[in-house]
Amino acid sequence: MNMSDIIYHPLDANNPQDALDVKRLVDLDISEPYSIYVYRFFLSQWPNLCILAKCEGKTVGAIIAKLERHRNVRMRGYIGMVVVNRSYRKQGIAKKLVNLVIEEMVKEKADEIILETEVINEAAIGLYENIGFLRVKRLHRYYLNQHDAYRLVLPITDKSSIRSAFLPPPDSII
Ligand SMILES: CC(C)(COP(=O)(O)OP(=O)(O)OC[C@H]1O[C@@H](n2cnc3c(N)ncnc32)[C@H](O)[C@@H]1OP(=O)(O)O)[C@@H](O)C(=O)NCCC(=O)NCCS
Repeated sequence: MNMSDIIYHPLDANNPQDALDVKRLVDLDISEPYSIYVYRFFLSQWPNLCILAKCEGKTVGAIIAKLERHRNVRMRGYIGMVVVNRSYRKQGIAKKLVNLVIEEMVKEKADEIILETEVINEAAIGLYENIGFLRVKRLHRYYLNQHDAYRLVLPITDKSSIRSAFLPPPDSII
């Protein structure tokens, strides 16, 4: 496979196969079981922040994210999950997916992007820290499997490093 064989595009809301492919990929590899409602929540509200990687028509990677106002004072992006089919790993597909989602969130005025990952997930931690995410918290027994998580943040604007209580009121933030 050549990296130029991989095509990246946002979820096509008119193609139900896209959502099914994402669910199938994620269910295979994520330790936490996600219900269909989780997928609906992310995919129906932020289809532009669900990006698929396809190789010859087959979905081989996907990222799911959302972007919302946090505490009414800053725009916070959240990466829910990123997965790459085992046979296609270590070739930069996840990195490209994360960078595409960051680009899209920056266009939509994100102040920061956060996520959680298991402390034992070296691949995910390597992926995000190489992009510039910082560890800000360790969450004790965050997952159903009892594993701890790290919360990581990618600060984008100065607002990300100012406590919510000190930020100006909502009218002035958009
Ligand atoms: C984590 C995952 C998405 C990485 O996908 P990938 O396509 O193989 O990652 P990439 O090839 O884009 O690698 C990007 C970076 O991550 C690092 N990385 C990838 N796999 C790694 C591993 N096993 N150990 C350490 N670092 C790793 C690479 O060093 C690379 O760094 P670079 O900036 O120097 O190139 C993939 O392993 C996966 O699907 N895992 C299961 C699902 C999961 O755990 N998702 C994350 C939590 S939601």
